[in-house]
Amino acid sequence: SSSASSDVDAFLGCLSAAIPPSLIKTPATNSYSELLMSSVRNLRYVLPGTTRPFVIVAATEPAHVQTTVVCGRRHSVRIRTRSGGHDYEGLSYASVDPHERFAVLDLGELRAIHIDASRAEAWVGSGATLGELYYAAAAANQTFGFPAGNCPTVGVGGHLSGGGFGALSRKYGLSADNVLDAVVVDAEGRLLNRSTMGKDLFWAIRGGGGESFGVVLSWKVRLVAVPETVTVFSIRRSRNQSAVDLITKWQAIAPALPRDLYLRVLVQNQQAAFVALFLGRCDRLVDTMRAHFPDLGMAERDCQEMSWVKSTVFFFFNTANIPNEVLLNRSNADYFLKVKSDHVQEPMPRQAWESLWSKWLEKPEAALVMLDPYGGVMGSISPSATPFPHRNYLYQLQFFSFWFENGTAALEKRMSWVRGVYEDLTPYVSKNPRAVYVNYRDLDLGTNELDGGVTSYAKARVWGEKYFKGNFKRLAAVKSKVDPFDFFRNEQSIPPLPAKK
Ligand code: FDA
Repeated sequence: SSSASSDVDAFLGCLSAAIPPSLIKTPATNSYSELLMSSVRNLRYVLPGTTRPFVIVAATEPAHVQTTVVCGRRHSVRIRTRSGGHDYEGLSYASVDPHERFAVLDLGELRAIHIDASRAEAWVGSGATLGELYYAAAAANQTFGFPAGNCPTVGVGGHLSGGGFGALSRKYGLSADNVLDAVVVDAEGRLLNRSTMGKDLFWAIRGGGGESFGVVLSWKVRLVAVPETVTVFSIRRSRNQSAVDLITKWQAIAPALPRDLYLRVLVQNQQAAFVALFLGRCDRLVDTMRAHFPDLGMAERDCQEMSWVKSTVFFFFNTANIPNEVLLNRSNADYFLKVKSDHVQEPMPRQAWESLWSKWLEKPEAALVMLDPYGGVMGSISPSATPFPHRNYLYQLQFFSFWFENGTAALEKRMSWVRGVYEDLTPYVSKNPRAVYVNYRDLDLGTNELDGGVTSYAKARVWGEKYFKGNFKRLAAVKSKVDPFDFFRNEQSIPPLPAKK
């Protein structure tokens, strides 16, 4: 409509009064596509039919973010904030609504990392990647680590906003559990830190999911202690060897292992890979594995000793024989992606794994299945300490489907595989609600609807309680305080809690 396009013009005018034109990219500027694609992780959300931003603001200073928020409020233009662009559902750069007009606030340049080695702390810009953080921490001191995800190109901004789970989480918790302070631009365009934002907002931004509460510019995090030498292994077993038995046993064993040992399973093709990070040397790892999981047959020959930062390379690239500088690559994706995930509370029976394998995993369109153990410190943090409530499960399960062929046939085949397996697993996974980790964003769970100009709380509970359980209501209460007009909104943003009538 013409009023929408005049809002757009007024918004662009408002931006250009305070932000250099070279940082304001409309589709007419030649670097628009390059910038848009620079951190797109899921090609599903750049297909024709997905709506692109009418402008991307490439912020290089906090004031640019404040201006974008203030201009957006003034001229009714919504903003999608993007840090690393790894959202499974593309929420940081795309919309499936053909009528939505939105701006992307890209934080990729706000990626400074300052390490305070004497305090084992760091200030990290949201636009930094996990790989950059791992690299910088280790460069300051080889015994500094940080608990966060296994993919080095994930952005700090979205990751810490949703929790952040990885190989150190059984020992040190989520990334969000290790946040000490943060700088946020709120819906009024104010710059707030931990002491000025208040404890409710500080609670909400550490796991309540991106977008809903403001724009987090930077985070002060606690760096954690890792030994100078850690040990990894990757042991593969095929289905017709012992994979089904081993996975069945793994379910109870892995969550009960000592905190220094993280043992995940990746199932793909006809193989299960048991991949471990141990915060210690090979000899102690061999003893620990013999004591807890003799059936895997792990032995000294499986060990690879290395620095912790090298282990982050190994975990993603499946080899340690490449330089640590690969952690600094910000390369974007070349695949289409759909992920669904679950939490498991009781080990699934052997026969369930058998039938999962014969019915689903043998198909050529099968996803990569990832089993990640909880337990350790995860189980001793209160479910209400942060918005992330899933502290007491045995493990999380992901069906991570990625494919390279363009076209609807491939897309439909992959999507229906992931949805089908999810449906079939219903009897074996968490119930009431079926628990999902918000950083594994899944729009199948439901999307927001408006009610009186703001997101409906009643409708949002359907997906919201799966991500946040009892914490959902508290998140909505925080939202009513900090963004009552629901400026920061997307398909699954937190709605304001309706006032009691
Ligand atoms: P992106 O920029 O897409 O943002 C995600 C959401 O947060 C969007 O809604 C966005 O608007 C909002 N947002 C972004 N920056 C913000 C900011 N500064 N302030 C406020 N809101 C902001 N997770 C995990 O826990 N462990 C893992 O091992 C992995 N591994 C992994 C591998 C791969 C290949 C992918 C694609 C994803 C993962 N993830 C993961 C999931 C990942 O943690 C999740 O997608 C994060 O939200 C990504 O953060 P980005 O900043 O990259 O995303």
